[in-house]
Amino acid sequence: MKKNFYLRSTEWFGKDDKMGFVHRSWLRNQGHPDHMFRGKPVIGICNTWSDLTPCNGHLREFAEIVKRGVYEAGGFPLEFPVMSLGETIMKPSTMLWRNLASMDVEETIRANPLDGVVLLTGCDKTTPSTLMGAASVNLPTIVVPGGPMLNGKFRGKDVGSGTLTWQLSEGIKAGTVSKEDMIEAESCMSRSAGHCMTMGTASTMACMVEALGLTLPGASAIPAVDSRKKVMAHLTGNRIVEMVKEEMRMSDILTREAFENAIKINSAIGGSTNLIIHMIAIAGRIGIKLNLDDFDKLGSDMPLLLNLMPAGKYLMEDFYYAGGLPVIIDELKNQIHKDAVTVNGKTIGENCKNAPCYNRDVIASPEKPFKEKAGIAVLKGNLCENGAVIKPSATSGKLLKHRGRAVVFENIEEYHARIDDPMLDIDETCIMVLKGVGPVGYPGMPEVGNMELPERLVKKGITDMIRISDGRMSGTAYGTVVLHVSPESTIGGNLALVKNGDMIDLDVESRVLHLDVSDEELQKRRANWTTPDPVAERGYVRMFIEHVEQADKGCDFDFLTGGSGSAVLRDLH
Ligand code: FES
Repeated sequence: MKKNFYLRSTEWFGKDDKMGFVHRSWLRNQGHPDHMFRGKPVIGICNTWSDLTPCNGHLREFAEIVKRGVYEAGGFPLEFPVMSLGETIMKPSTMLWRNLASMDVEETIRANPLDGVVLLTGCDKTTPSTLMGAASVNLPTIVVPGGPMLNGKFRGKDVGSGTLTWQLSEGIKAGTVSKEDMIEAESCMSRSAGHCMTMGTASTMACMVEALGLTLPGASAIPAVDSRKKVMAHLTGNRIVEMVKEEMRMSDILTREAFENAIKINSAIGGSTNLIIHMIAIAGRIGIKLNLDDFDKLGSDMPLLLNLMPAGKYLMEDFYYAGGLPVIIDELKNQIHKDAVTVNGKTIGENCKNAPCYNRDVIASPEKPFKEKAGIAVLKGNLCENGAVIKPSATSGKLLKHRGRAVVFENIEEYHARIDDPMLDIDETCIMVLKGVGPVGYPGMPEVGNMELPERLVKKGITDMIRISDGRMSGTAYGTVVLHVSPESTIGGNLALVKNGDMIDLDVESRVLHLDVSDEELQKRRANWTTPDPVAERGYVRMFIEHVEQADKGCDFDFLTGGSGSAVLRDLH
């Protein structure tokens, strides 16, 4: 603890003038005595609770628990709501609103008398949006990941959120699943508070926040309804007060080494492809340059140590009982930066040293991994001049080197209209190409890249085909799916020029995605190509399409990269 630590909140509550009176007096209507305002760290509890975000539905209770910890440590907690992003309800895609939510978080933190912040997160985008916003202010900050749901249980089997959805949907197409089965499965899959319990984007981001050093050790895998999650929230409330006294800011934790650790650890857990976009955006806010090649260079040779759906068999609850992320981190001690500092003031190596593993069928050792190479591969070629990504561990493995005929869908509506048309000229050797689902094109880059296969091929027993798009894929999905093609089709990337019948080569080992069409022919096609009309004339969506960066740059707004610190330029008068 520093002797004379700085309290930003004194700029509000420490003044003896008219404005000091105003700042304190109105807050007094909540019944706080005078000593609550003076000389104590004021801790903002940034809450993404919302009835519209079921994955975060328990966070109101968690805010109260964090407050207990803050009070106990001598701080003064003030909870505030921010825009919450419910993956399963919001249309057209929560990714459209991630940057807006980050602006809400950033401006709310900066404009208010906060010395430190606790971020309560859960559903997919609620983690990156809050981190991005908080990073641009750079106060002492710590995260409470809301935690996964308990394992889904359906007819005697463990089932995973999202992953079961895809399986049932394919089953309906194949005629092996009835509507009644679907209805019964709904409540069996989602049977407790918490976020998706597969290694989807929410679990990936929670683990990444821990890997970055922004949570207390072991926080990410604890199920939302396990009492130890509450203990973690209470201790987080204690710790944030100390962090303020130590003046330990987000930038002290979010170093280049921390991001490199997170990339490697993400490979070892089989994390979602969405991580790439979010990590590049978060890094950009704190002034660290990450690019697509970093993910391939650092992550693609890492072994898969976690046996979780969709790549494997188990779920987050099992991961927690097996020892959680500290086991993975300790197993990787020779490959990561062990000296990266975390929010508890210790290094990540110290926190995870000798973490015991209780189930080797869930967490493997690097000597006996579930897969030798688990990372995300970054593809290059004339079909994705600025890159595209594929997660080989989520594929069938049979199509990683393949040449096929393109079957093109100009947009997602056309895909839905034609995919089961008996006249569609397609077989299992073809490559499905979807345009218009990039950041600008949709807009918001939805998770539709893992297009379902044509019903007649599913009935034939086909379970995987190559799919290429400028969209994203849910972390709970699987298949030989090439995503995040950049530049996207709507702004004139070569993806826009692909025609039915073109031949495409995918070679993941060589990192190549090639459209086998001559440069002259592509030039001819480009001359006839026109930019689609913008989808919005006004409002936030117009701002989004005018300022969103491409996927390889993290889809942040061009004017949001970097930070503005915590200084407030003008006073309230
Ligand atoms: Fe919220 Fe999956 S839908 S985490």
